[in-house]
Amino acid sequence: MPIYHSLGAIPKKRHTAFRKPDGRGIYAEELMGHEGFTGTSSLLYHIYPPTTIKSVRRLRETAYESDCDRALRHRHFKTAQIPQVQPDGSPTLDRVPLLFNADIAMLYVEPDVNHTDPHFYRNAQGDELVYVAKGQGVLESVYGELPFHEGDYLVIHRGILHRYRFDSGGDQPKFLVFESRGHVRWPRRYRNEFGQLKEGAPYSERDIRIPRELRTHDQAGDFQILVKQYEGLTELILDHHPCDVVGWDGFFYPWAFNINDFEPIVGRIHQPPPVHQTFQGDGFVICSFCPRPFDFDPNAVPAPYNHSNVDSDEVLYYASSEFMSRKGIEYGSITLHPDGIPHGPHPGRAEASIGAKETKELAVMMDTFRPLHVAKQALPVEDGNYFRSWIEAGTGFNPPTS
Ligand SMILES: [Fe+2]
Repeated sequence: MPIYHSLGAIPKKRHTAFRKPDGRGIYAEELMGHEGFTGTSSLLYHIYPPTTIKSVRRLRETAYESDCDRALRHRHFKTAQIPQVQPDGSPTLDRVPLLFNADIAMLYVEPDVNHTDPHFYRNAQGDELVYVAKGQGVLESVYGELPFHEGDYLVIHRGILHRYRFDSGGDQPKFLVFESRGHVRWPRRYRNEFGQLKEGAPYSERDIRIPRELRTHDQAGDFQILVKQYEGLTELILDHHPCDVVGWDGFFYPWAFNINDFEPIVGRIHQPPPVHQTFQGDGFVICSFCPRPFDFDPNAVPAPYNHSNVDSDEVLYYASSEFMSRKGIEYGSITLHPDGIPHGPHPGRAEASIGAKETKELAVMMDTFRPLHVAKQALPVEDGNYFRSWIEAGTGFNPPTS
C-alpha cells in the first residue's frame, strides 16, 4: 500500500531506544512486512514482546477438496442457499469454500451478528480480501480499529492479527472472502512511477480508509491466536493481549475501500471488463461492476458481446439486493464461466439492450489466469441446469455483464 501512515507514539529515529514511562524499560519494536525486508513494511512498538508464546497445537486442517466431476461447463451457485451459521457462527472458522486454485480461493460466510470470536486470527499463507456484502462493525487489529460497512472491500495482508466485531442489531453479515497467495495491490497501470494513483484511475487515495484509532491493551493473561499456515489452523497461546501496540508507522496495514467509491469508466461503445478492475493479485484480478450510464452511441449494444475468455476463468458475484431483475440469477448468485467455452448474452438480450440508458447492477468479478476447482462444499447450492440456460432462457434472461 503506497501510502505512508503513522498512528500513536513512535520514536524519532527507527531502531533506537523508545523508553516506556517510569523507567519500565523500552518498547518492543517489530517490523512487519512482506517480501522479507524489501517489500512494504511497518514498524510497530509493543508493550510486551510479540514472541512470548506459552503453547501450540494443531487445531484443524483446511485443505480444500474439489468436485470429482470435471466435465467442463458453465456453473451457477446460490449463496442464499448456504445454511446460515448457527448462533456463535464465526467469521473466521465457518467459511464455506466455493472455488479455488493455487493462486486464490473464494469462500463465503454469514457469521452470527452477535458473535465476536474469542480468538484473534492471522492468515500466514495468504492475503485476505473480504467483500462485505452485508453488515457493519469494526475490524480490530494490532494496527488499531478500522470501521467497515456494506460494500467495503477489506484488504488484510498476510500476517496481520485481527478480529471482527459486528454492530449488534445490525444487518446479518454476509462476507465473500478471497484468499490470495500473492500480495493484493492496486493495478500497476493506475499508479505512476512514484506509486501515486494517477488522474484517470477509477479511485484515489482519498477513497482508501486506514485505521485511525489505536486501542492499546496492557493486559497479561492467556490469549488465543489462530494462525492459518500449512493448509490448517494452529492455536497459539500468548501470555498477554496481542493488541498492545502504542504506535506504528509505515506502509503495511489493513485498509478498506468501498465499492460505491469506484468511479465507473464509460464510453460511446462497450468498454471491456478491464475498465472495472479494482485490485491486482498474482494470477487473478478483481473487478467491480457498479451502477453507471450505458454506452451513449445510438447504435451501441450495451450488452456484452460473446467472448471466449482464453487464458482466464471468469467468476461473478451478484452483489445487489435491490436490483435483481435477472431471471434465473438472484442476489448472492455466483457464476463461473471457465476457459474453453464461449459465453455471452442470452437470446434476444443484445437487441433488447440497444438504447438502454443505464444499469444499476452491482457485481464483484474475479478473473483467474489458471483454471479453478469447484469445492465440494459448493455442490449443494449449485443450479445444475445453468449451462443450458442459453437455450432455455428465451428472451427473459438478462446476461451477465462480464
Ligand atoms: Fe465474460
